[in-house]
Amino acid sequence: MKRTIINDLSIKNKGESVSVSGWVQKSRRMGSLIFVDVRDVTGIVQLVFSDKGELFKKAESLRNEFVIQSTGKVVERKSKNKNIKTGDIEIICDSLNILSKSSRLPMLIQDDTDALENVRMNYRYLDLRRPVMRDRIIARSNFNKITHDYFNENGFINIETPILTKPTPEGARDFLVPSRVVPGSFFSLPQSPQLYKQLLMISGFDKYYQIAKVFRDEDSRKDRQVEFTQLDIEMSFMSIDEIMNTLEEYVKLVFRKLDNFSGSEKFERISYDNAMNTYGSDRPDTRFNLLLNDGVELFKDIDVNFIKDSISKKKTIKYIKLDKKLSGKDHKELESFVKSHGANGLLFYSFDSSTKNYSGFLSKHITQNEKAYKKFKSNFGENNDYSFLAIIGDWKQTCEQLGSLRLELSNRYLTVDNSLRNFIWVTDWPLFEYDKETKLFSSVHHPFTKPTSETAQYLDTDPAKVRSLAYDIVLNGSEIGGGSLRIHDKEMQYKVFEILGLSKNEIKEKFSFFIDAFEFGVPPHGGIAFGVDRIMQIITDSSSIRDVIAFPKSTSGVAEMEKAPSNMPADLLNDLSIIIKDNVKG
Ligand code: AMO
Repeated sequence: MKRTIINDLSIKNKGESVSVSGWVQKSRRMGSLIFVDVRDVTGIVQLVFSDKGELFKKAESLRNEFVIQSTGKVVERKSKNKNIKTGDIEIICDSLNILSKSSRLPMLIQDDTDALENVRMNYRYLDLRRPVMRDRIIARSNFNKITHDYFNENGFINIETPILTKPTPEGARDFLVPSRVVPGSFFSLPQSPQLYKQLLMISGFDKYYQIAKVFRDEDSRKDRQVEFTQLDIEMSFMSIDEIMNTLEEYVKLVFRKLDNFSGSEKFERISYDNAMNTYGSDRPDTRFNLLLNDGVELFKDIDVNFIKDSISKKKTIKYIKLDKKLSGKDHKELESFVKSHGANGLLFYSFDSSTKNYSGFLSKHITQNEKAYKKFKSNFGENNDYSFLAIIGDWKQTCEQLGSLRLELSNRYLTVDNSLRNFIWVTDWPLFEYDKETKLFSSVHHPFTKPTSETAQYLDTDPAKVRSLAYDIVLNGSEIGGGSLRIHDKEMQYKVFEILGLSKNEIKEKFSFFIDAFEFGVPPHGGIAFGVDRIMQIITDSSSIRDVIAFPKSTSGVAEMEKAPSNMPADLLNDLSIIIKDNVKG
């Protein structure tokens, strides 16, 4: 008999003979009946064994996760189960085939699991049997389908690019693959298909997309994996607005189809400077306020030497006002939090509206100084409790430290609506970042990002002033994609490489294949890469990026189940001309 998919069964099948296959979720004997819940990839249905003979005995031997195939007649259930889709029916079985037995399980196959992370990683195939995990993986498959449909319908061409390649400059460490045919040389795995997609534009493909595996040797985090998936896109002959609109339509479609998103208004655009100044982050979570404010004016009358000194040295002073009175203990904890992010300290006072009492380090400097007191009072009033938290330092660091504090405060004291989907574009980025210690510029995005026409003139004189035509798309504080218009002029590309400290020889060695292509007609182009895993993490409401990847790397960046990376036999290493140092031999 043909197999019936479990969730296709309903009361409409009443009276029919069906055959189902799957895993035993649970079985229980009640008097002369045995009830077995069987689960396939779609759902669960209840089987009933009532015959006293061989069949009953067999059913009695079933244990969790045995794989069975059973036939029987669909009947209406007396007591319906509202929790499962097939809850109106059950199958009165007349045959049972045990296809495979299961040993005692190291973890329970159910949504709520207390299994430790390493158990989940080591027995990933069991972890993936849990419906919540299954649904995430299926959602990801749906994401792929929607993506392929959208880009094919809009004239994009799906092109694969190499995995064994040269280093790609996205700022992380490369994974290397030793070559056997060219002893002592290495391929690197792509950090992105960036150079290839630009070459494809030069090849004339006009609109490209690819769901691509990319590799970055960096520490794993809740939203970061060493091996992850990008939806990589590039387009020629389009303005920045046309590109951003195309991408925005796609994002809305995905979230409409997979995430009940109903927004239709254009995504807000916020400049990098504004994002940093107001939210203390280049990927601001705009679901809640708790904004950063400039504190210089407020602090001008405060008679504390290091504050006066900082003001005269034009240091940045920024503060957050929280509508809640925090205690000295809270302050201590928050201060050590910002110190762990590099701040020198956290200036603080809190105000109690019932007693009109100011407490904390800054309190006496405010209340005992008439001018300062007037300023603070007129700014914040005295009708409500609040706390004032400020950091002094260099602009970027201060913004970032306070930005981290903002998130910490929201975790501790605010209820953030998780159903909100606050998409924003972050634009007007600096092209370069200057490292005071190494005295070197690095790219804020990557070296192929185009400067704005208004600021390109500073490439020669003051690169720190150059702004780029880059755009990141941010959702609820997570950077889900980043892209830009690209340089399509050879001279400018050379100039950027030089500012990044690359000599003519280095440019030739690293990028000659790319730069050479600039001799033969380059269309203006631009694109983006979306982080597919991050998008799926948000859509499926998962706390870790690992939950949306079938076989992820662990927090320490290794494949626990497969035990990779692993030692290699000496003859294989020999073929690759590799000698392992004694002190790292496994
Ligand atoms: P970028 O480096 O911003 O851009 O990467 C694009 C997007 O990929 C996601 N992402 C990650 N996801 C999981 N784990 C990681 N380690 C990780 N790193 C990045 C983020 C990010 O926005 N070539 C350019 C794109 C372009 O200019 O077109 C690039 O790779 O969501």
